[in-house]
Amino acid sequence: MASNIKIAPSILSADFANLGTEVAAITAAGADYIHVDVMDGHFVPNITIGPDVVKALRPHSDKVFDVHLMISPVDPYIEAFAAAGSDIITIHAEATPHFHRSLQLIKSLGKKAGISLNPGTPVNVIENVMDLVDLVLIMSVNPGFGGQKFIPGSLEKISQVRALIEKEGRDIDLQVDGGINLETVQSVIDAGADVLVAGTATFTGGPDKYAENIKALRGK
Ligand code: DX5
Ligand code: ZN
Repeated sequence: MASNIKIAPSILSADFANLGTEVAAITAAGADYIHVDVMDGHFVPNITIGPDVVKALRPHSDKVFDVHLMISPVDPYIEAFAAAGSDIITIHAEATPHFHRSLQLIKSLGKKAGISLNPGTPVNVIENVMDLVDLVLIMSVNPGFGGQKFIPGSLEKISQVRALIEKEGRDIDLQVDGGINLETVQSVIDAGADVLVAGTATFTGGPDKYAENIKALRGK
């Protein structure tokens, strides 16, 4: 299997009473990115964590903090997440009609910018922002909760984004999020994804299993 695959454990599935320890544990276990799911109870039907928690977690890992904002409005909070130590800030195209402006704001703060699409949103809505993005995130479940079933129609969208990235000719991450496990992982890699978010698949079995779980997803 390709060695350029990155694994981004979603701390949504971690023990929230011990988040610092959990972030350190997945770092030691081989995580490439630390995927932080930020939810507001408005854009998605769940509430998770804010910038102060990102800031508190920052010293617990030297890995890339990959912060997935499932919030609307998003612009008023981007600066706080940047200051908290995020490396990549991903917003949803559905969260604001002005996502071009939001991406510009992320870039102006010196951070990598990501754009995410829900399962019901077609890929063509991001064609005109490809020059601004460092990461495209295809949601393969409806966002809000971990442990959901992978939506097979996501594979076609991943292929479409891969073609857009080739056309752009720059290094842009193609991330997939939701329902990634040992059954689905090969199909998303074959479709062109190179950063795999994995919540349940990383954290199942507790800290003793994290390294084994991450290694299994890499397939080597
Ligand atoms: C869903 C989140 C995901 C989620 C993935 O809204 O964006 O990152 O935690 O969880 P699993 O890997 O369990 O599907
Ligand atoms: Zn996520």
